[in-house]
Amino acid sequence: MRRSTPKLALACALASAVAAASCIDPVHADAVAALGPEAAGVREGPTHRPGQPCTVCHGGSGPGSPEFSVAGTVFLTRGADDPAVGVDVVLIAADGSTRTERTNAVGNFYITRREWDPPFPLRVELQQGGTSKKMETRIGGDGGCGVCHRSQARGGGDSRHMPGVFLRDK
Ligand code: HEC
Ligand code: HEC
Repeated sequence: MRRSTPKLALACALASAVAAASCIDPVHADAVAALGPEAAGVREGPTHRPGQPCTVCHGGSGPGSPEFSVAGTVFLTRGADDPAVGVDVVLIAADGSTRTERTNAVGNFYITRREWDPPFPLRVELQQGGTSKKMETRIGGDGGCGVCHRSQARGGGDSRHMPGVFLRDK
C-alpha cells in the first residue's frame, strides 16, 4: 500500500499535465474525508459546516462547488460556538483592492473565485457596530480561515490550530 504511493503521485503528476481532473489525489481525498459527513438536517449550502476549512472542499479540487477564494466562519467570542451574525469581514488584497462580505445566520461567509480573485497576501479585519478585530499578520496563500483557525467545539482547540475566528474577547 505505502510503497505504491510515490508511483501513484508520479502518475498523477504526469496525468495532470494532460488533463487536470483525471486523477484522484489521495491526500486531498483524506483531507475531505477527515471533515466527516454533513450534519443531520443541514443541506449542502451557505449554512453548512460552520467552523470547517471551507477551502479544503471549495478550493478547486472538489467535492464542493463553486470554488471560493476566501471563506470561513466567525464566532461571537473566543472558544465559543455561537455564531457572529451580520459581521462585516473586510479584506484587503496585496494590490490594495478590498472586498467586504457579511456573515450569515451561522456566521459563515464566502467569496467565489469568480467574484473576486485577490492577489495574496490578504489583510483581514472584522467589524460590527463599534467593535472591530484585526488579524495582525497576513493570510499568505489559502483564503480558508478554518485552515488555521478551528473552533474548539468543532474539533479544533488543538495545538495545531488557532482558536476559531471570533469577534469579541468576552
Ligand atoms: C467536506 C467538504 C465541504 C466543506 C468543508 C464545505 N463544503 Fe460547501 N459544499 C460542499 C459540497 C459537496 C457542496 C455541493 C456542491 C454541489 O452541489 O455541486 C457544497 C455546497 C456549498 C454551497 C452551495 C453552492 C451553490 O451551489 O450555490 C455553499 C454556499 C457552500 N457549500 C458554502 C460552504 C462554506 C461557507 C463552507 C465553510 C464554512 C463550506 N461550504 C464547507 C462541500 C463542502
Ligand atoms: C495561515 C494561517 C491563517 C489563516 C488562513 C487565517 N488566519 Fe487569522 N490568524 C492567524 C494567526 C497566526 C493569528 C494570530 C496572530 C495575528 O493576530 O496575526 C490570527 C489572528 C486572527 C484574528 C485576531 C484574533 C485575536 O486574538 O485578536 C482575526 C480576527 C483573524 N485571525 C481572522 C481571520 C479570518 C477572518 C480569516 C479568513 C479570512 C483568517 N483569520 C485566516 C492565522 C491565520
